[in-house]
Amino acid sequence: MIDERKLQQFLGKMIVDLGAAASVPLMRIGVRLGLYKAMDGAGPMTSAELAAKANISERYAREWLAQSAASGYLTYDSASRRFELPPEQAMVFANEESAFFTGGGFDAVAALYQTQPLVEQAFKSGDGIDWGDHAGCLFCAIGAMLRPRYSANIVQNWLPALNGVVAKLERGAEVADIGCGTGYSTFIMAKAFPNSTFVGYDFHEPSIDHATAYARQSGGAGNIRFEVAKAKDFSAKDLDLVTCFDVLHDLGDPVGAAAHICRSLKPDGTWMLMEPLAGDATEDNLGPFGRVAYAFSTMACVPVSLSQEVGMALGAQAGQAKLTEVIKAGGFSQVRRAAETPLNMVLEVRH
Ligand SMILES: C[S@@+](CC[C@H](N)C(=O)[O-])C[C@H]1O[C@@H](n2cnc3c(N)ncnc32)[C@H](O)[C@@H]1O
Repeated sequence: MIDERKLQQFLGKMIVDLGAAASVPLMRIGVRLGLYKAMDGAGPMTSAELAAKANISERYAREWLAQSAASGYLTYDSASRRFELPPEQAMVFANEESAFFTGGGFDAVAALYQTQPLVEQAFKSGDGIDWGDHAGCLFCAIGAMLRPRYSANIVQNWLPALNGVVAKLERGAEVADIGCGTGYSTFIMAKAFPNSTFVGYDFHEPSIDHATAYARQSGGAGNIRFEVAKAKDFSAKDLDLVTCFDVLHDLGDPVGAAAHICRSLKPDGTWMLMEPLAGDATEDNLGPFGRVAYAFSTMACVPVSLSQEVGMALGAQAGQAKLTEVIKAGGFSQVRRAAETPLNMVLEVRH
């Protein structure tokens, strides 16, 4: 028996969801064409004023402005027919250096849409999908999505939450950043700790090329290099610190990687892992962030792990208990949650 009221309520929710999904290309256009930047701090603007400032067509500007106001991204004053980007929204859309910038996240969502046919097939076959086969430069978008969190947290909050690590980094330590992707995390650490040496490893060659070029263009800290290697067989030894930012759950064989990291660390070394924040039970993760994380997990993290040896496919919402089990199976005995943000947890792992 259909409850008409519940049906109408659910349809209302679906309109909200459809609106969010349909807004993705508009947000990306706003970022790429500099429309949010043109409005940032500019006060109320008409569509003609935005069009002139951003060098775009007035007709498109008018439609984009109305959609953005309907989304709650802009405010609208009907008397003056002017739209305004509030300063809080500017932090999210206009300021790429802000910890709250979400442009990369929407690029990553767009890449997931492009990969849908491959994932759809994988649902039936049970096969994995190589990280490099994901469409739309998913790896660049993931790098851009995570970077604001790293700029705001790695040096300021996460490394200081680890026992004695900052003092070692200041004196001069050997560090490996495993699964470094586009290398922003490695670069941020290398710049902050010039006496230490940093190697970023990733098994995806285009990511390593991107990381190397980025470090060079950004005034490349001399204490950093990048190499193609798997988490199970990178060459560095006698390390003081190993970092894994949003990587462990993507690995095919996270236990094998944990064992290799265990062998590569000095006896008093530290392994720092950043993972998506998640509870241990599915029901703990059924909120707004879990929704986003399970989407990325289904479309990218699980397929990438299944494409590798073992194919453990922990998923992006594995939770600390499961992660601890994997880490300890690799030979470590101490795991502690050292820090957390609304989106991530940081684990400190020691022999
Ligand atoms: C979600 S991305 C995170 C990238 C980067 N750490 C960051 O925070 O931007 C996961 C990364 O793990 C890498 N990866 C997956 N499996 C790997 C493996 N077995 N060995 C090395 N890297 C791996 C991918 O290439 C990808 O760069």
